[in-house]
Amino acid sequence: MSNEKKVRAYTNIALIKYWGKRDDQLILPTSSSLSLTLDAFYTETSVSFDDSLEKDAFYLNETVQDEAATQKVSRFLNLFREQSGMKAPAIIKSTNYVPTAAGLASSASGMAALAGAANLATGLNLSPQELSIFARQGSGSATRSIYGGFVEWQKGTSSSDSYAVKVDDANWDIGMVVVVVNKKQKELSSREGMKLTVATSPFYQGWIDSTAVDLVNIKNAINDRDFEQIGAITESNGMKMHGTMLGANPPISYWEPDSVLAMQLVRQLRKKGIPCYFTMDAGPNVKVLCRLSDSEKIKTAFLDYFNEDQLIISGPGSDLKEITL
Ligand code: PMV
Repeated sequence: MSNEKKVRAYTNIALIKYWGKRDDQLILPTSSSLSLTLDAFYTETSVSFDDSLEKDAFYLNETVQDEAATQKVSRFLNLFREQSGMKAPAIIKSTNYVPTAAGLASSASGMAALAGAANLATGLNLSPQELSIFARQGSGSATRSIYGGFVEWQKGTSSSDSYAVKVDDANWDIGMVVVVVNKKQKELSSREGMKLTVATSPFYQGWIDSTAVDLVNIKNAINDRDFEQIGAITESNGMKMHGTMLGANPPISYWEPDSVLAMQLVRQLRKKGIPCYFTMDAGPNVKVLCRLSDSEKIKTAFLDYFNEDQLIISGPGSDLKEITL
């Protein structure tokens, strides 16, 4: 029995960050977040259930994965098995499309694509909203990768209303330049980093309070297409998230010297009249939010300090979609 169908999901970068869970099991966040989906980074995944298999087999970039990685995928697929009654093991084939040497986290696009592929293979026919709830249980940031453009993950009151909604398609000269400072796997996972921050940082409550205000303000700015305001809020919110980490015990920092250099370059470019703003996640790479029409200019300025393959330009990505094989 073969029912292979492929789904593509794009990754996203949070402008208003998700940093902390109120329920570890269900992955319910302490605050709502908002992201921009990127078209330069995506994952394509197929799931085919097959009674003749003994257990699930997971291939990533055409390489069969070890027990631990396969188990993570199996646990996620079990959510779809429970809902659909499908019992058979599956072959899961996943390919990450990221420009060479990008080294960006792929959990958002990965789990969203897996949710989409499992939805097709089980015939559950879930709505995007339901799919977002499923994706959330794979990885928090995946909640938002169901949609393109600017996307809000509403924290909700329970599992059934903690999902993403599209805010705007972002097709109005919006882009990002991703500065790859280091492509190595991070030492402290976002899961562990947030856990420690929530448990020990005295700044955490301040983060919760101010991020709620930032979210309201950025949605108004998106609605007004006020790019400078969107950028200023993005930069401030990201730094506040990193501030909560510095307050953790022991302190957490994902920064490297070149992360600071990249942020300084962004400030300099802004002084020269190019509107651009930085944000960082649980790693040393810097993402520069800009006008897509300014992205080449920004890349050229960065080329004085970084190599060509460390600088990746992206426009806004689209909704998760089925790919015809
Ligand atoms: O869901 P995860 O484990 O990919 O965590 C994402 C955490 C941040 O990237 C730092 C913030 C975010 O909202 O994406």
